[in-house]
Amino acid sequence: MKYNFDKIINRKGTNSFKWDAGEILVKIGYADKFNDETIPLFVADMDFECPQPVLDALRKTVDQQMFGYTTQMTSSEYYSALKNWFKRRQNWEIEDNQIIYCPGTVHALIMAIRAFTKPDEKVIIQQPVYAPFYKTVVDNGRTVVNNELLNDNGFYTIDFNDLEEKAKDEKTTLMFFCSPHNPVGRIWTKQELKKVAEICENNNVILVSDEIHSDLIRTNETFFPIADVSDLQNVVVCTAINKTFNLAGLHCSNIIIKNRLLRAQFQKELGMKSPSPFEINALISAYNEGEEWLEQLNEYLDENFDFLEKFLTEKMPKVKYRRPEGTYLAWLDFSDYNLPEEEIHKRIYTDANVILQDGKAFGEKCSLFQRICLPTPRSIIEKAMNRISEQF
Ligand SMILES: Cc1ncc(COP(=O)(O)O)c(C=O)c1O
Repeated sequence: MKYNFDKIINRKGTNSFKWDAGEILVKIGYADKFNDETIPLFVADMDFECPQPVLDALRKTVDQQMFGYTTQMTSSEYYSALKNWFKRRQNWEIEDNQIIYCPGTVHALIMAIRAFTKPDEKVIIQQPVYAPFYKTVVDNGRTVVNNELLNDNGFYTIDFNDLEEKAKDEKTTLMFFCSPHNPVGRIWTKQELKKVAEICENNNVILVSDEIHSDLIRTNETFFPIADVSDLQNVVVCTAINKTFNLAGLHCSNIIIKNRLLRAQFQKELGMKSPSPFEINALISAYNEGEEWLEQLNEYLDENFDFLEKFLTEKMPKVKYRRPEGTYLAWLDFSDYNLPEEEIHKRIYTDANVILQDGKAFGEKCSLFQRICLPTPRSIIEKAMNRISEQF
């Protein structure tokens, strides 16, 4: 079946955070205005229909006509769908008992902090990075230590000397690792993964590898899971159908923990949580039958990145940008305009009436960056980019 990612679907009136929460965004100062003409490209969810098999499975779930307590534990289909996906796509063998369902990946980060660290301990993150990596640590009363990524002309790498120094600190007991990386778009090489895994292992730092962007990769790129380079004895891997299949509203994450002790600690903190009937059926259909859609999606995303690249080269050559290897996010550096961050923000959010995400949300040093999410029909991206370029 051929999917049409150009199709525009009106999401207003669906309680969409991206399209309906304008008033809240203005109230919290995230946006200056939000009206019928606003184009929101800030939330990392997609404006595309889910794969047909997933829609069918969800409709079938409604036909059950009742939605009592459910458990995935009696569903061998749930486990086999998940295991087969990772075996087929990443050559990673997972066992049933290593899989813990968790209602959302951010929730898993919070559980990891509470399960594996004490209040006076430190957690390593690598900014610029997805804002909740910082916020979950601070909100839970732990200390963030930032192993800032190195930016070489838009290509980001890891400062391993600094990472090792920070990991050596006895108070450092956990690391949040984003792989592929939001927002810089890197897919880490096996060598890079190996070094991160070794540094953590040698210094008794538990490594949480958030791999929820691992299915969203550019053609000709290969994603390597941390499982390729580590025996996973001190590793927790976050997986989810949320990003891959545009199912974030279902909050269906699965956390893979091989080490029995770590698994028990995590499970104790999490308590007994079960996926809803919608999540169970969505996961089974997505992992068993969603691959055709995903391949077409990645091709469409490639073309969105082609479009953005050409647009920036022709109309906004001062914006520094490098095509990401993974994710559907573009990380735009406006520093060559020599404008203060407030002026960049005003021109985009107020004058162009487009909502992106200010770089400072990802780290202190990123105030002149903007992140744009590209999983949206090209005509919408084109309209947004035209409006932005007219302001610069
Ligand atoms: C790296 C990363 N982790 C987690 C999340 C959120 O995941 P969830 O919706 O499963 O909580 C996002 C969303 O953008 C993300 O980019």
